[in-house]
Amino acid sequence: MAQLWGGRFTKETDQLVYNFNASITFDRKFYRQDIEGSKAHVKMLAKQGILTEEERDQILAGLDGILADVENGTLEITEEYEDIHSFVEANLIDRIGEAGKRLHTGRSRNDQVALDMKLYTRDEIYQIDGELYDLLTTLLGIMKANTETYMPGFTHLQKAQPITLAHHMGAYFEMFKRDRQRLADILKRMNLCPLGSGALAGTTYPLDRDYTAELLDFDGPTLNSMDSVADRDYVIELLSALSTVMMHLSRFSEEIIIWNSNEYRFVEIDDAYSTGSSIMPQKKNPDIAELVRGKTGRVYGALMSLLTTMKGIPLAYNKDMQEDKELTFDAMDTVKGCVALFNGMLSTLRFRKDVMEASAKNGFTNATDAADYLVNHGVPFRDAHGIIGRLVLLCIEKDCAIDDLSLAELQSVSPVFEEDIYEAISLKTCVDKRLTIGAPGRAAMEKVIREEEAYLEKNKKRA
Ligand code: ARG
Repeated sequence: MAQLWGGRFTKETDQLVYNFNASITFDRKFYRQDIEGSKAHVKMLAKQGILTEEERDQILAGLDGILADVENGTLEITEEYEDIHSFVEANLIDRIGEAGKRLHTGRSRNDQVALDMKLYTRDEIYQIDGELYDLLTTLLGIMKANTETYMPGFTHLQKAQPITLAHHMGAYFEMFKRDRQRLADILKRMNLCPLGSGALAGTTYPLDRDYTAELLDFDGPTLNSMDSVADRDYVIELLSALSTVMMHLSRFSEEIIIWNSNEYRFVEIDDAYSTGSSIMPQKKNPDIAELVRGKTGRVYGALMSLLTTMKGIPLAYNKDMQEDKELTFDAMDTVKGCVALFNGMLSTLRFRKDVMEASAKNGFTNATDAADYLVNHGVPFRDAHGIIGRLVLLCIEKDCAIDDLSLAELQSVSPVFEEDIYEAISLKTCVDKRLTIGAPGRAAMEKVIREEEAYLEKNKKRA
């Protein structure tokens, strides 16, 4: 047991208590951020004359040495230390002696961990944003190539009206674009530096918090030292945004699973992204999509868990808050992995355009357009609705599409029909006439594609 306290204790900590309390098994993940924060702190202390320049340089060299050795594998972060902060400080003192003992001047582990968690989370948000950017790029590629790939659009999982694959993918483009925007909003709000808040009440040393914030690329310091060490709002906001990312991925996964089924056959998942069965030789299963759908539960769980952890905590720091880490790390890793894998599956997915088009033709998806045809010829919409309903019944009896009926058959239901009805209800017409902003018509779709392209150009990924 190597710990940072003990002066006022007369007994050793019980081993089980020590283990229960320790966080090194998981906070070792942010050793880089802990060292980065310590370096900024030390630079600020020297600038304020609290440390000498010599002490500063010794400490900075020591911290850089620890970082290098951890990264090249010669220094292992072991469970002998209570947490990552103790590990770094103990190692520093081992390396450089006396000066190392001055590192923690004007700092508490409470503001230190608040900083580390923020720095780590901020880095992870950049990574997740980068994965989402790549997914959007894949989606845009599919959209560009499929403005004339017709398919049925569904409501209630029943064929409704014809759309294009570009249009369907465009819906997901909007969702993942909003997910990126949510992350950007969180970054803006969280980007204030808690370091210098001390345990809860600031410190009597003349710290320059603006300077520390600047060194660590924050927009400024946090404004209340109690809130600084007790705030995990940004983690909750992030878990909520990540839950929404997973909800989107899960809906998309569900569609791919349905589309990949023998009944639909709209898509074929690449062999590299499918798995087989140990008993049924014919099986090619969409396990990746199913796992993404399944892992959504973990991320929702993390959100509920942290909300519950935080709800009864009096100000300021309490140890409960150590529970923010494992579940947030798990959620961030899960989302990063899921977005990347999903992107791989999507970019290798084969769309069976012929099956999609045939399905759009066979499901009366042009029934609304047939009614609109009558309306355009003077029939009130409510009457037109009834007439087309009767036509559909006739088609069901004859097991055919509206387009397959002869003009005489059509006219037997309504004399208003003319030869031009066939053109008016062709898939191409049905789609291309839908030109309101956001609709699937080719010209409308192409405009949107240009806007989405401009969005990606303007909002590049950082990581
Ligand atoms: N491991 C702790 C955490 O994650 C670090 C802060 C410890 N502070 C304290 N006063 N015990 O929250």
